[in-house]
Amino acid sequence: MATPVDTLHRPLSELRISVTDRCNFRCDYCMPKELFGAEHHFLPRSSLLSFEEINRITGVFASLGVRKVRLTGGEPLLRRDLDRLIGMLAEIPQIDDLSLTTNGALLTRKTALTLKNAGLKRISISLDTLDDEVFQAMNGVQFPVHQVLEAIDHAAAVGLAPVKVNMVVKRGVNDQAILPMARHFHDSGHILRFIEYMDVGNSNGWCYDHVLPSGELLERIHQEFPIEALPSNHSSEVAKRWRYLDGGGEIGVITSVTEPFCKGCTRARISAAGTLHTCLFASHGHDLRKPLRSGTSDEQLGQLISGWWKQREDRYSALRTSQKAIPAKIEMSYIGG
Ligand code: GTP
Ligand code: 5AD
Ligand code: SF4
Ligand code: SF4
Repeated sequence: MATPVDTLHRPLSELRISVTDRCNFRCDYCMPKELFGAEHHFLPRSSLLSFEEINRITGVFASLGVRKVRLTGGEPLLRRDLDRLIGMLAEIPQIDDLSLTTNGALLTRKTALTLKNAGLKRISISLDTLDDEVFQAMNGVQFPVHQVLEAIDHAAAVGLAPVKVNMVVKRGVNDQAILPMARHFHDSGHILRFIEYMDVGNSNGWCYDHVLPSGELLERIHQEFPIEALPSNHSSEVAKRWRYLDGGGEIGVITSVTEPFCKGCTRARISAAGTLHTCLFASHGHDLRKPLRSGTSDEQLGQLISGWWKQREDRYSALRTSQKAIPAKIEMSYIGG
């Protein structure tokens, strides 16, 4: 089937799949514990796409031109036997890049090795600071820093290297951690990426005062470690790449707020419940679970997806400053980071 192109000339080429809306963390910028408490209703098991359904729909996306697949959540490692899904997706011939974004809490050496052996190629692990007090307050469940650092080491040791370390920066909350994080990961072989705090979902009480523009952040780093820009690996890359002039490796900045990258956005997202979202900031999605469960052929599924993609005009981040707030965005833990 032909690769669909949207109204802004962007082809469909990447797929991010959320395998669960649950998480064992309660990060204040994503699932604040006051709002995701015991009474919060997560998706029942029957609403989740099964591995077989995910595999089938990914095959359809591959036939439409998707080459990169990333598994997310919530926390994807909460989904039991995730390696089985990875093994299935790794068998799809067109998929040449299979990656996972995790908080690392469940990533033991054994799990890392199982995922690698199943066919996982790359991993991103989130860590917002090296300061235990700040980290435990930010993750909402008192999870210690050292265990995430160990997870990063496990991933690299089994060959999921270079590991990308994702740090969401909130001004006044963890921006003091920028230089300590840069020092720690300088020369480590891991790629530290600084993410501007985004207004995803409706729960995190986002305001611009909490955003630290990446330009300012890079200046702070440059004072201590001179850096220079690197070219992108590909046109739809989210992070802007930089390298330390002293040979200490690479860092990245994800400038969703101050320098949106919607122009090159070729990413589709599937929620754990099987809805297709054509933007991280979407307020609605297209249901794939129903057709998947009611005898629709692969060909017909491809036509549905293609039709939706061709109508796509999303560029939320690029319009953020000029448009009114979207009343009911979908939470990032549901739609997938
Ligand atoms: P690779 O470039 O394939 O390594 O992956 P990635 O950097 O896209 O993956 P990762 O999950 O590590 O993404 C890092 C963060 O970038 C995410 O957690 C989001 O915060 C942000 N991000 C990823 N995709 C988008 C997007 O399409 N739009 C916006 N606004 N932010 C995104
Ligand atoms: N702004 C920026 N990044 C976010 N993430 C979650 N919520 C936000 C937000 N409000 C990132 C996490 C992790 C990934 C799953 O999404 O840091 O790297
Ligand atoms: Fe969980 Fe990741 Fe959201 Fe934190 S950012 S609550 S680890 S899904
Ligand atoms: Fe893509 Fe939407 Fe993010 Fe823009 S805001 S880069 S269109 S997901």
